[in-house]
Amino acid sequence: MNAPHMNQQNTATATATVSVIGLGQMGSALADAFLAAGHPTTVFNRTQAKADALVARGAVRAATVAEAVEASGLVVVCVLDYAAARELLAPVAASLRGRVLVNLTSGSPEQARAEAEWAAAHGVGHLDGGIMTTPPGIGDSANMILYAGSPALLAEHRATLEVLGDPVDLGPDAGLASLYDAGLLGLMWSVFGGWLHATALAGADGVAAKDFTALANRWLKTVSWFLSTYAEQIDAGEYPGSDATIDVQVATIGHLIEAGAARGIDGRLPRLHLELMREAAAAGHGGDSYARLIETFRGK
Ligand SMILES: NC(=O)c1ccc[n+]([C@@H]2O[C@H](COP(=O)([O-])OP(=O)(O)OC[C@H]3O[C@@H](n4cnc5c(N)ncnc54)[C@H](OP(=O)(O)O)[C@@H]3O)[C@@H](O)[C@H]2O)c1
Repeated sequence: MNAPHMNQQNTATATATVSVIGLGQMGSALADAFLAAGHPTTVFNRTQAKADALVARGAVRAATVAEAVEASGLVVVCVLDYAAARELLAPVAASLRGRVLVNLTSGSPEQARAEAEWAAAHGVGHLDGGIMTTPPGIGDSANMILYAGSPALLAEHRATLEVLGDPVDLGPDAGLASLYDAGLLGLMWSVFGGWLHATALAGADGVAAKDFTALANRWLKTVSWFLSTYAEQIDAGEYPGSDATIDVQVATIGHLIEAGAARGIDGRLPRLHLELMREAAAAGHGGDSYARLIETFRGK
């Protein structure tokens, strides 16, 4: 048996051979990026017809999962969920031995850690990944692909994996790519919610979404600066209200809620923020910065 780093097909050169299992929207984009970068690419999908377009562009069609695994040292999997990945991979554990499995399927940290244990038990090199873009963003180095599990394997295969997006190494805990992924998506949904609420508010007075969004995007850069400042407070466990206190923001959010109510805008989102801020103020923290609310989210 070859150790993962000894397998000749694993050699991460510009033309390293790659297999992609799962050709939904994301898996197809991944395979396409490997092909575009000149990597000989073998593809497998449960519904075989989804491989046709990739085969027309030069991919090799695998008739079975085992055939796909055996074609390459680097095997990338991107299917609906971990249950589907396990269903596909468990029967071919022996074929995977000595190869590197990169699972870009979304899941929980616990699922990723369990898969890493399964891979280790079967002599399979393993990286878990989180794709921080949609399929059209694959291949753009501005976009992050998060990796966790083995910094050494990531370093070895970085040249191949970076054709998908900028590889971000989160270290040896296989659960961290999923944990960051889930958290970053939570951040995205919160931003989407705040932006849509505000766009509805501005739109009620005739402001076009694109006009409001031009300023919203500029504002997000300032908000990003607030996050960096507050992250330092969180790590220090101290929340000095030296820029803006929770008390001031309780008063300020009232304007948003009132303006929304006057225009018939759904106010559940700002009312939730108000509720969280009022709780902190009632507990005696009204003079602290907004970062104090981390304690609420921690359940303290
Ligand atoms: N799309 C995005 O923007 C995006 C972004 C980041 C991460 N992701 C993650 O990427 C993964 C794939 O997403 P997608 O957008 O490509 O989804 P999709 O277009 O719905 O494709 C799902 C894939 O999973 C396969 N699959 C589902 N159940 C299966 C099973 N029981 N056995 C074998 N194969 C099975 C499907 O095969 P069939 O074709 O045979 O049904 C298909 O290849 C997900 O974990 C998703 O969370 C997606």
